[in-house]
Amino acid sequence: MTDQTKISAETLVVGVGRPAHDHDAPVNPPIVLSSTFRGAGKVVPEDTVYARFDNPTWNGFEDAVASLEGAELPGLVFSSGMAAVASVMDLVPVGSIILLPQHTYMASVGLASDLAKRGIAEVVRLDLNDTDSVLAELHAAADRAGTTAENIDYAAPKVLLWMESPTNPMLEVADLPQILGEARKLGIVSAVDNTFATPLLQQPLKLGADIVVHSATKYLAGHSDVVLGATATNNPRLREAMLHHRTTNGAIAGPFEAWLALRGVRTLALRVNKAMENAQILAQKFLAHPAVTEVRYPGLPTDPGHEKAKQQMSGFGSILCIVLDASAQETEEVLNRLQLWTPATSLGGVESLVERRRRHSSEPDSIPDSLLRLAVGIESAEDLYRDFEQALAPLGK
Ligand SMILES: Cc1ncc(COP(=O)(O)O)c(C=O)c1O
Repeated sequence: MTDQTKISAETLVVGVGRPAHDHDAPVNPPIVLSSTFRGAGKVVPEDTVYARFDNPTWNGFEDAVASLEGAELPGLVFSSGMAAVASVMDLVPVGSIILLPQHTYMASVGLASDLAKRGIAEVVRLDLNDTDSVLAELHAAADRAGTTAENIDYAAPKVLLWMESPTNPMLEVADLPQILGEARKLGIVSAVDNTFATPLLQQPLKLGADIVVHSATKYLAGHSDVVLGATATNNPRLREAMLHHRTTNGAIAGPFEAWLALRGVRTLALRVNKAMENAQILAQKFLAHPAVTEVRYPGLPTDPGHEKAKQQMSGFGSILCIVLDASAQETEEVLNRLQLWTPATSLGGVESLVERRRRHSSEPDSIPDSLLRLAVGIESAEDLYRDFEQALAPLGK
């Protein structure tokens, strides 16, 4: 028997979630298209019963997410990243506090704001560049809510810490071990959105998180053809609560999407490594471009998040941001001149995407008008840079 703990991620992604090694068994899991499953008599926990409760097609992908994140319990797949986010945020009871970084994926902020509008939770924003102030906010929230490590109610957390690192889109890096460790001591339930880093580069459960969340739409599925989400945890009560949320809200994945996501996972290591190599080359080249006033990428030694990222990540990812010496209109015109890059939202596919984030009215003013988020794909870095050079040239810098 191979010792699974010694298997590298490159090997794991290829083999995880396949059917049992029986003679004539299919090599890939079949897609099960059935809304109901045969059964009579008392239902036992192992029964599938009905396709809103479970579907065998999900299981390979759920095992893949859990194994990659180093979780002992099976992962949970959801109909979208936001359905996965909601399965965590919706756990908070009336009178709770949600701690959320200043820059966080806009729909996650929207979900927390909706809870605030309905009088369920108070939202406190965190400055991840200032770890001491984050720790002070954790203490203040725990004091006000009366949480301790001994009285945590996982099914209804009074204080929820929501982390993104690196953040979307500003790429700030949180000191995850310190922040998550303090949260645990204070009885605060913590979740990390690990979409940007992927489990290949960062494993939040090992850094002290209670829950890890993914928009599997991005790197895990990897081809911009699926909308899907996932969570993983080592805590049985939290898993039960998220599963209950999924089942009762019906936030379930289609079997075809789950199958495609597992197929995407097979090449995760190749894609992540190549895209990251490209991002590092591009970040360095953009530093020297006269039309670029700022490059944000944790892989640059000059980046404020570099040292923290080096400690807690095994690579710096493939998203970078550049700020242009240009107006919003001029920046949009640059996008229209690009031929290889696709101007579009989202990230994590094989193709390079680029977006001016402030085109979304929900992005805050603290994000510069001419900031472009580059979701680097697996093409040639040289070709990608040349395309930008020609698109930037008319700015005359
Ligand atoms: C960091 C992050 N989390 C969550 C989501 C939501 O995922 P989905 O679009 O799959 O619902 C996104 C989507 O862009 C994201 O970037």
